Amino acid sequence: MQGHHSENFSRSMHQQTTSPLLTIILAAGKGTRMKTSLPKVLHTLRGRHLIDHVLDTASRAGPGRVIVISGHGADAVAASIRRRTGQYEMVIQEPQLGTGHAVAQCLGGLAGFDGTVLVLSGDVPKLRPETVEGLIRSRLETGSDISILTGYLADPTGYGRIIRDPGGKVTGIREQRDLHPDQESINEVNLGVYAFDAAFLTRELPKLRNDNAQGEYYLTDLVGAAVRSGGGAVTFAAEDHAEALGINTLLELSEMETNMNREYLKKLMDSGVRILDPARTWIDDTVTVEADVVIHPTAFLYGTTTVGAGSVIGPGAVITDSLIGRDVEIRPYCVITGSKVGDQAAVGPFSHMRAGTEIGPSARIGNYVETKMAVIGENSKVSHLTYVGDAELGNNVNIGAGCVTCNYDGFNKYRTVIEDGVFVGSGTMMVAPITIGKGSLVAAGSTLTKDVPPDSLAIARSHQSEKQGWAAKRREKLAAEKKKEKS
Ligand code: UD1
Ligand code: MG
Repeated sequence: MQGHHSENFSRSMHQQTTSPLLTIILAAGKGTRMKTSLPKVLHTLRGRHLIDHVLDTASRAGPGRVIVISGHGADAVAASIRRRTGQYEMVIQEPQLGTGHAVAQCLGGLAGFDGTVLVLSGDVPKLRPETVEGLIRSRLETGSDISILTGYLADPTGYGRIIRDPGGKVTGIREQRDLHPDQESINEVNLGVYAFDAAFLTRELPKLRNDNAQGEYYLTDLVGAAVRSGGGAVTFAAEDHAEALGINTLLELSEMETNMNREYLKKLMDSGVRILDPARTWIDDTVTVEADVVIHPTAFLYGTTTVGAGSVIGPGAVITDSLIGRDVEIRPYCVITGSKVGDQAAVGPFSHMRAGTEIGPSARIGNYVETKMAVIGENSKVSHLTYVGDAELGNNVNIGAGCVTCNYDGFNKYRTVIEDGVFVGSGTMMVAPITIGKGSLVAAGSTLTKDVPPDSLAIARSHQSEKQGWAAKRREKLAAEKKKEKS
């Protein structure tokens, strides 16, 4: 009997705590307080649009349709969303008559849907999945029409306040502008994220009115409707309200970004990464850094970058989507994008490695060297003032100062192949397509236009001639002319 009961109980719990999900993201507002022409949700936070973060929140909430309500800058918002994999629907709200009006634009899309409608705000980028899950669960477990995500703020100014009856039951949400003076001290606030029963929402949304201080249709007025209908509303308090903070100004955006960066740097430091100046180091959450790496001030590590143990990242490095091996030295002020640097290699100072560069182990790329689509073998050296593009260099190659792989003829790009052990003298132009055979030497100042066979010496420059005494004679002549002028 006992067992039977508990089985029943757990089954019904299961039925109560899961239900089909549909997510609506409110993103039509202009973001007036940002004071920028860019729509608010297209501002970047940690390298990604705000809307992108919120779409992540939506997809982590569980499978189900996601509808983005857009208005200001809808085309640009749509373009941002199209870059993601996954299916998203967009509804245009024009004009924007309030959060209730916004959700009402989805009524057509909600027809026939039975389950939970999760409403997220396009400018709340940091919500943790556990919080969203808790919010949804709290509605299902209590069988309420609405669950409201709340927080307790030291300064609740600007937020809608949670109004409760003497018994503690939620009776409404009041916006700042509509507060009675004695309600201003309420510090339990609506964070603007909700779970609704779909049937309730479909039934009550069309009944919203706009008789309030702003003349808007408030989504929050649905709380009153839920109380009247008997389904009721409950709250779910965010563990740390900071995760549910919305972005309203550029200052808030920069503060949130700084905090998120600092949190990630702290994580890295806790795992053995030496960061000399966390206030002036920026590392995306998507970057992996192994222990015993040393990172100097003003380094920026972005995207899918990984840095292997024991490497040193010098000041001013900007490294994006690149794989840095172990015990690598990135000297000051290098820009490295879409590249791979082998173990024990050294790069910089002032090197620019563009997409498709692969540097072998112990190779050396020096100052004012630019590389692009270049595979450079083990222990090879390109030390000074050189361009290597669309090229393949073997092992133990040495490129002198000021050399250029001339890869572009104004129409097409061509490849340069430099085989193992080749020495290219300074100031050499290698006009591609060209192959310099294994073990060859190229004389300084050459302009190579055809292949060099292995183990040969290539000299491709005009012969030198000297006019003996010419300079002395010229000086004498000039001196004589000056003397004449003076006299
Ligand atoms: C709203 C809540 C308030 C809560 C606060 C939390 C209402 C009436 N009030 O106020 O209780 O404390 O969020 O941040 O809901 N939006 C549209 N279309 C519109 C209006 C707004 O899509 O017509 C979008 C905005 O782009 C934004 C979100 O809805 O992403 C919230 O709108 P906002 O104007 O910031 O609401 P608040 O006044 O902050
Ligand atoms: Mg707001």
